[in-house]
Amino acid sequence: MNRTTRAGITSLYDTHLQRCYVRGKLASDPVYAATAALLAGTQLPLLDIGCGLGLLGHYLHAEGHRQPYLGLDHDARKISAARHAAHRAGLDTAMSLRDGDATELPALLGHVTLLDVLHYLPRERQQTLLLMAARHLAPQGILIIRNVLREPNWRFQATRLEEFLLHASGWIRAGVQHYPSADELRGTLENAGLDVRVEPLRGLTPFNSYLIVAQPHR
Ligand SMILES: C[S@@+](CC[C@H](N)C(=O)[O-])C[C@H]1O[C@@H](n2cnc3c(N)ncnc32)[C@H](O)[C@@H]1O
Repeated sequence: MNRTTRAGITSLYDTHLQRCYVRGKLASDPVYAATAALLAGTQLPLLDIGCGLGLLGHYLHAEGHRQPYLGLDHDARKISAARHAAHRAGLDTAMSLRDGDATELPALLGHVTLLDVLHYLPRERQQTLLLMAARHLAPQGILIIRNVLREPNWRFQATRLEEFLLHASGWIRAGVQHYPSADELRGTLENAGLDVRVEPLRGLTPFNSYLIVAQPHR
């Protein structure tokens, strides 16, 4: 994505803080490009759980994706900002945004994304959510997860510090509940009948982030 497109998406947001966050994310975090690459060429709808400001929806649209996008987040402030941004971009119809908890997923069969969300749920709820997400996959659907994984390294410690600051600043209201390990996620997803791939995805960030891609056996 070029600088002009990034600036266009950034300008959709109302507050200085939101624009700083969006600018930084688009410039440094490879998660949206990685997701766009996985979803390229498919028209299946996308359920984006914990969508925050709806950045993924804007990114995909800017990259030419036209599948229906449904973003869900339990932070009403973020959903409101996401709706304003979608309206400003003329994407009210293309992007549907709902204020709701991840435990109540809308009836949709397609692809599912969970980008930097799981660790805000306790361990048992993570497993329940993964099983629910798996049930929302179409036969050709892909579950794309990006999350920090629990590992004994400095990146994990840097992530813990960042999460402390995010929570203290009020950007993330409920703080971290449980950092999953790769084995925990892999085990739950494989038991749900999915093939699983785990690989590092950090870009320019210092965080211990991984991309986890799960698909029904083909
Ligand atoms: C770090 S942000 C990631 C936002 C977005 N996925 C992205 O990558 O641009 C995590 C988001 O998960 C949301 N979240 C956390 N727990 C949730 C829950 N139980 N139900 C719905 N959303 C949740 C937060 O409100 C926040 O917007």
